[in-house]
Amino acid sequence: MARKIIIDTDPGVDDSMAIFFALVSPELDVIGLTSIFGNVRTPLATTNALRLLEIADRADIPVAQGALDPLTRPFEGPVPFVHGEDGQGELFLPDPDTQPLAIPAAQFIIEQLRAQPGEITLVPIGPLTNIALALRLEPRICEWVDEVVLMGGNALVPGNASPAAEANIRNDPEAADLVFGADWQVTMVGLDVTLRVHMTPADIAEYSTHGKPMSEHISRILPHYRRYFEANYDAQGIFVHDSSAIAYLLQPDLFQVRRWQMRVETAGIGRGKTLPATGGRILPAWADRPLVNVCVGVDGAAVVALEAERLRKA
Ligand code: BDR
Ligand code: CA
Repeated sequence: MARKIIIDTDPGVDDSMAIFFALVSPELDVIGLTSIFGNVRTPLATTNALRLLEIADRADIPVAQGALDPLTRPFEGPVPFVHGEDGQGELFLPDPDTQPLAIPAAQFIIEQLRAQPGEITLVPIGPLTNIALALRLEPRICEWVDEVVLMGGNALVPGNASPAAEANIRNDPEAADLVFGADWQVTMVGLDVTLRVHMTPADIAEYSTHGKPMSEHISRILPHYRRYFEANYDAQGIFVHDSSAIAYLLQPDLFQVRRWQMRVETAGIGRGKTLPATGGRILPAWADRPLVNVCVGVDGAAVVALEAERLRKA
């Protein structure tokens, strides 16, 4: 039976790839998308989620809109220099025909988990505000969830949104600290691995040969995103963040995992840094926290090949 997932997302170029990757993978059953600020503001993330489902011919999948701001302060703003003003590589697509649900994301998450205990995995690939709000409203979601597999954080490598922190976690560190501290199984697919999943220019070019709507869309949104990477990293092509979380769901054996308690820095210039308890002695701030599965190694070429193969066959 396919594994049911809810993707919490801020689409976003790499979010779009991850959503499509999940939709075309028979092992996964995407039962809903929830939107969050990050790459764009939340209302645009909602619109983009609806547009992506229409492109995928899956407008039957519900979309619930999430929080407008992080838990404790206003959203610092989107990153058009990475994902484009529209979050879709500046294609400026027409509005979708479909509408989001009337209930907010946190409520949707709670209702789905309550109705199908043990069956649903949460897959956040943006800031963790909606997940933290759901936890606060209904702590029993910890018992009802299967697992939380998230893209975010950096355990043993530098950040990408600041020298210290990864973008999703830095956008709401208080929410992330709640999510890592809750009594459920969290798997962190962060920069430690995603910066080793490299799509070369040849890998990118291949998508335009698939002749499929989803691959065609990916080909159209990638150039803007790619320019950002090529201007800021010493590499051609892109690194694959959000799709790596989907690859973990499909083939966890492609990843090496360590288990550590995790805290998140919420103050000062290190705000948003994920801090695993890697030392021998567990200090009080980490004690009594659950062990998080932290991905520290990956077969990056296999992840890139898996995604391309799935979308080619879509
Ligand atoms: C994460 O931040 C966003 O820009 C991407 O969509 C990804 O979720 C990478 O740090
Ligand atoms: Ca994202």
